[in-house]
Amino acid sequence: MSQKIDLNTSLIGQIEKELSGLPLPDTPNSLYDPFRYALKMGGKRVRPFMCLLANGLCGGNTDEAIPAALAVEILHNFTLVHDDIMDRADTRRGVESVFHKWDTNKAILSGDVMFSVSMQQLNYYGSNEKFGKHDYAALNEVFLNAITTVCEGQALDMDFVDRQDVDHDEYLNMIAGKTGALLGASLEMGAITAQAGSDTRKKLYSFGMELGLAFQIQDDLLDATADPEKFGKKLGGDIYEGKKTYLTILALERADGENKAFIQQVLDDNNPANDSVTKVLEMFHQLGVIKDISNEVDTHYEKAEEILNDFSESPYKTELNNLLLFLKNRDH
Ligand code: IPE
Ligand code: IPE
Ligand code: MG
Ligand code: MG
Ligand code: MG
Repeated sequence: MSQKIDLNTSLIGQIEKELSGLPLPDTPNSLYDPFRYALKMGGKRVRPFMCLLANGLCGGNTDEAIPAALAVEILHNFTLVHDDIMDRADTRRGVESVFHKWDTNKAILSGDVMFSVSMQQLNYYGSNEKFGKHDYAALNEVFLNAITTVCEGQALDMDFVDRQDVDHDEYLNMIAGKTGALLGASLEMGAITAQAGSDTRKKLYSFGMELGLAFQIQDDLLDATADPEKFGKKLGGDIYEGKKTYLTILALERADGENKAFIQQVLDDNNPANDSVTKVLEMFHQLGVIKDISNEVDTHYEKAEEILNDFSESPYKTELNNLLLFLKNRDH
């Protein structure tokens, strides 16, 4: 087996083992069952993997990045539990979302405790002599900044539903918050656990940010084009919710009077008919939106690639490149 496969398999395996071994109380069931379910229902584990790889890239010992990796993955799962309430999404990773399986109150509270448990992971660095006060403070700062930025991005995502004039830059700013910030922070936190300098930390954050922009635009694209079975989420979910994604922004810009009014009306409808949503999805193709946005995704992946190219060769760099290619080529 090549070293590439070894590193990927062993790090992802370690993440899965740590997540399933997380010491959580049994009771109250209503609080911890949804938590355990959210962590067990799968997921690509992109953020914790990036955290470990960033540590390795900076010459660290990846075991020392495990608590930070758990922190970002638990936090990510918390954002999904709450996001599905906000987006009224019944399906996640091909199974019932937490709020749909239990109820909204349980999803809110389980999400809250996930948030708390994610923060607790960082205590490792505060109580370990290998790490100084500065490292601990830096980890907290980067993590909390990312959480605040994710909330800001989510707030904009929700606010934009009621607006008809959201432009490209506002959209990019929103996705930089809701998605880019945590990917950037995952890498930067990995770098901090390897005591990397500030230039390296910043570069890795930018790499994660570009990757995050590509990743979220692609998520919006997949929302309109993926095989729902594989994607694990409802096709056209963003249209049902009236979301302003890059697709809707560009389609509204390009459509003529009648079609534009139709798209707008479907987005504004709280409960649009399935065939209206299908018609909007067809318009995305006809207007060349799908094709042009795929190119925009590639541009952001290329920018990410350029940043990564600056690092010297190592198995960790190779693995980050592989991850980039895996994300770029994903169809779900
Ligand atoms: C989903 O993230 C939320 C977005 C930022 C688009 P992922 O696609 O990383 O979700 P999982 O963890 O692999 O399910
Ligand atoms: C997810 O954005 C961003 C966060 C959860 C912070 P979406 O709402 O597009 O994610 P999916 O499509 O539900 O995974
Ligand atoms: Mg959302
Ligand atoms: Mg959502
Ligand atoms: Mg989405």
